[in-house]
Amino acid sequence: MGKHIAEHLLKTGKRIVTPIARPSSTSKLPKGVQIARVDYSGDNDATSMETLREQQVLIITMSMPALSDTITKFVRAAAKADVPYVLPNWFGHDAANNTLCNDSLLGRKTTACFAAK
Ligand SMILES: NC(=O)c1ccc[n+]([C@@H]2O[C@H](COP(=O)([O-])OP(=O)(O)OC[C@H]3O[C@@H](n4cnc5c(N)ncnc54)[C@H](OP(=O)(O)O)[C@@H]3O)[C@@H](O)[C@H]2O)c1
Repeated sequence: MGKHIAEHLLKTGKRIVTPIARPSSTSKLPKGVQIARVDYSGDNDATSMETLREQQVLIITMSMPALSDTITKFVRAAAKADVPYVLPNWFGHDAANNTLCNDSLLGRKTTACFAAK
């Protein structure tokens, strides 16, 4: 998903796209992007925060098997770095409905959206 979103943003010619990938990443990303290698496995969010500083938006397209608190950590880092918009990698149902959220695969991840408030 991330590769396709990046490709289409680049096509507009109006955006600088900075994919955030893990140091071990073998993801194939489009030409024209400057990849930020970030080890976000630990609790220290300083590197994520620095990478996000002055970005206009954080678009999360992380794999479902990613640890559920990883997305929350990124949303918190974005808030600390004053990123005004975060697009989480889930959408389509009421995030305030805990029963519905907990009933879906996205359950615990949905707390990420509240971390940015
Ligand atoms: N694929 C679809 O058709 C589709 C459709 C609708 C919604 N979605 C949603 O969109 C999101 C992204 O889907 P996707 O298919 O693009 O995901 P994906 O290819 O499985 O993973 C995207 C990236 O997540 C990163 N990642 C971080 N932690 C990981 C971990 N523990 N295990 C594996 N990867 C990890 C990896 O980046 P690096 O290795 O580069 O660091 C990986 O390339 C998901 O939430 C999915 O549910 C996907």
